[in-house]
Amino acid sequence: MSKTTTNRQWRIAGRPVKRAVAPEDFSWAEVPLEDSGLAPGEVRVRVSHISLNPGLKGQLESIAGYVTGLQTGDVVPSQGLGEVVASAAEERPVGSLVIGNFGWQEYATAPAAETDLASNLKQPTALLGVLGATGLTAYFGLTDIGRPSPGETVVVSGAAGATGSVAGQIARIAGCRVIGIAGGADKCRWITEELGFDAAIDYKSESVRKRLAELAPAGVDVFFDNVGGQILDEVLSRIAPKARVVICGGISQYQREGRNQGPSNYMNLVFRRARMEGFYCGDYADRFDQARGRLAGWLEDGRLKHREYVENGLENAPAAFIGMLAGANVGKTLLKI
Ligand SMILES: NC(=O)c1ccc[n+]([C@@H]2O[C@H](COP(=O)([O-])OP(=O)(O)OC[C@H]3O[C@@H](n4cnc5c(N)ncnc54)[C@H](OP(=O)(O)O)[C@@H]3O)[C@@H](O)[C@H]2O)c1
Repeated sequence: MSKTTTNRQWRIAGRPVKRAVAPEDFSWAEVPLEDSGLAPGEVRVRVSHISLNPGLKGQLESIAGYVTGLQTGDVVPSQGLGEVVASAAEERPVGSLVIGNFGWQEYATAPAAETDLASNLKQPTALLGVLGATGLTAYFGLTDIGRPSPGETVVVSGAAGATGSVAGQIARIAGCRVIGIAGGADKCRWITEELGFDAAIDYKSESVRKRLAELAPAGVDVFFDNVGGQILDEVLSRIAPKARVVICGGISQYQREGRNQGPSNYMNLVFRRARMEGFYCGDYADRFDQARGRLAGWLEDGRLKHREYVENGLENAPAAFIGMLAGANVGKTLLKI
């Protein structure tokens, strides 16, 4: 690295509260990066990949109880993967591959203790997806909140996305019958033909309520919901007695103007003695290693498959993020810098 390098980055420029995220919510900056001044224990990382997550919408809005403290002008937060190019930490020598909260920028300076080593992995980017936040979210949401039993019927929305595709496969591994809801024939084909889902509903061309009546005549035991809105409402109309409705996210509402669309069929929770519960993956941090071990084992023995959808170029980050919110991706969305 030369003495002074330019660090290119995206910063928060707008707060998309009760409206869709727009390109103007991000501003481009080029700042000089001095090649000195690492505090003891810090590393400087040249970021190669950024993880794009729908949860960033909530972070930009600064939703209370979710994330706080982000200011206009801050580097857009995100997990990333990169190579250590300068180090003041013995445990992360120059050349190590690490993941951490590096943000939408080319170079990040971070405490080594807040990074995870990725050098030993066959596919280091997996730590941003199937072995990272989205895989862990699928694991804890499905196993801890959904608690599926063999033979039960599990429905997953956003089923061809990063989290949904893993949640559905874990339900299959648990011995359940799994129905995925996704947008478009290609996504439906992928989850049934390659991931082993038992059935798929293309919510863009089919009636979810009608198809569920055919595919799950005895009702839905576990619903892992990434989407909210109308799809949540339609699945609520088909829940089985003692069903568990796992609220992972509500992406159909993130880009809407005004108030969120609430479910009108929620009284079925009373009639069917069912439970609806939200969760946040970060609350399970003390069990991440154990869960990662199980996910890695399933990847190794071929029971779990994953796919990465890679966009290119830091300058394209806002467009790639907005595209993912609209469903451009199959599997985990990454941006390669
Ligand atoms: N609770 C937690 O701790 C936690 C952690 C991580 C993520 N999440 C949540 O998990 C969900 C999935 O996140 P992800 O990172 O795995 O993203 P993702 O599913 O890989 O990508 C988003 C997907 O959402 C779908 N979508 C967009 N608009 C939709 C609409 N109006 N109706 C139905 N589907 C729509 C699109 O698929 P289609 O083409 O099928 O529409 C798109 O591919 C999000 O709601 C996110 O907020 C929660």
